[in-house]
Amino acid sequence: MTQDINILNSNKNDITDEESLKQLSFIEKAKEHVDSLSRELGRNLTACVVTFGCQMNARDSEKLLAILKLAGYEESESENADFVIYNTCTVRDNADQRVLGRLGQCSNYKKKNPHMKIAICGCMMQEQSAVEKIQKSYRFVDLIFGTHNIYKFAELLYTTLLSDRMIIDIWKETDKIVEDLPVLRKYPFKSGVNIMFGCNNFCTYCIVPYVRGRERSRSPKDIIRECEKLSADGVKEVMLLGQNVNSYGNDFKDGDPNKISFPQLIEEVCKIEGLERVRFMTPHPKDFSDELLETIKRNPKIARHIHLPLQSGNTEILRRMNRKYTKEQYLELVYKIREMLPDVAITTDIIVGFPGETASDVDDTIDVVNKAQFDNAFTFIYSKRTGTPAAGFPDQVPESEVKENFDRLLKVVQETARKQSEKLTGRTEEVLVEGINEHDNSLLTGRLSNNTLVHFKGDEKLIGSIVRVSLDECHGFYFMGQMV
Ligand code: SAH
Ligand code: SF4
Ligand code: F3S
Repeated sequence: MTQDINILNSNKNDITDEESLKQLSFIEKAKEHVDSLSRELGRNLTACVVTFGCQMNARDSEKLLAILKLAGYEESESENADFVIYNTCTVRDNADQRVLGRLGQCSNYKKKNPHMKIAICGCMMQEQSAVEKIQKSYRFVDLIFGTHNIYKFAELLYTTLLSDRMIIDIWKETDKIVEDLPVLRKYPFKSGVNIMFGCNNFCTYCIVPYVRGRERSRSPKDIIRECEKLSADGVKEVMLLGQNVNSYGNDFKDGDPNKISFPQLIEEVCKIEGLERVRFMTPHPKDFSDELLETIKRNPKIARHIHLPLQSGNTEILRRMNRKYTKEQYLELVYKIREMLPDVAITTDIIVGFPGETASDVDDTIDVVNKAQFDNAFTFIYSKRTGTPAAGFPDQVPESEVKENFDRLLKVVQETARKQSEKLTGRTEEVLVEGINEHDNSLLTGRLSNNTLVHFKGDEKLIGSIVRVSLDECHGFYFMGQMV
């Protein structure tokens, strides 16, 4: 639950973007409607935002929730609510299936609550086939919109409240970036900040460029202004978000004063008083510059964590994935990071079962894991996404074969991660306290700059502050420690 956090950009005076002002007026109209329905029913109306996918979607959901709250809804954790919105992901098929399962269950709530409205948005809705499926088999859905017009949610909400028909508003693309939308953070002390939207890389397996459109960078001025607002509101840690943060600013014309590089941007963000940690996600290995490494080295505020998606350790597979680096180039970069920044944790993403991949190709991936000694790795089984080039490759790998290779890889990944984690035992590190431990409420949970989790005894008042903790016992992916 998001409590005791201010909704940023809820006041007209804080807003410079015309479109955002327009949306605020729709929020007011929606609120009149919600308030009157609430009086009629003699109870408060509730809203639930269900989020799938990456940090970008999580950030979008914080905007959806802010709008719903400003429109008079109370936040509900349960989908048995008066307004439910699913913010979807379609990066792998299992993400699609999970949404559809949840949506199906939600219809049961609607049968009992005639005032209930159900909305679905996000990446999956940028695929025509998914929208057609909802139109045909999920007739109870009230509102469908996509990623490019999410800034119009207040307007769409208002329209939906007045209508009994299914409302569908999907845009193919947009070049618009709307600033200053209201936002209600999930955490008081940390926040994602979009620095760019979309992706131009077209890795052959990936649907993201099709559902999120081309790269659009926000102006440095807008990013800094947002970070300053967040810092003034108590945020200690920001994560700069983009599908490939290394290409930040490439879409600005030469000579445009906005045209600064990602390292220059992150340096500017580090100057903001009150911000103690700056993370970023995701850099693409193909254009990870020395300038960025130097910047990280110089700036203790930049988190000691680099997420560097490998995808495969076989050069031919990488070529067919359109990743634009070889096994050797990737390893060279890792060695350079390890040498220049020995305290940085390197994590990665790996796909197993890409079309044409053999057991010996997976051996190359395992070789990279052994050499790179990743601090953690997310391993995925290749999922065929309609519309991507790889979906048309003839040599799709049967599931039984994939499973065996996947398990082999996972074993090595877990071993290396554990070894890397154990190296920290006995050290005392700065920890940003994130909350009360989910399993034992006498403990607090926090994160090191390198993203390692640690649990330790402490007062809940410390949530949001940085404390020093000794890393006493390694339990694989987390530590038990003590405040010093
Ligand atoms: N822009 C980031 C991450 C995007 S999606 C990057 O370039 O790394 C997050 C991860 O999902 C990817 O790194 C990849 O490992 C995985 N992924 C993307 N498409 C996939 C697919 N079709 N099947 C399986 N995993 C996929
Ligand atoms: Fe997908 Fe590749 Fe873009 Fe990442 S860089 S979002 S994997 S196309
Ligand atoms: Fe999923 Fe869209 Fe993110 S497809 S991974 S939610 S950009």
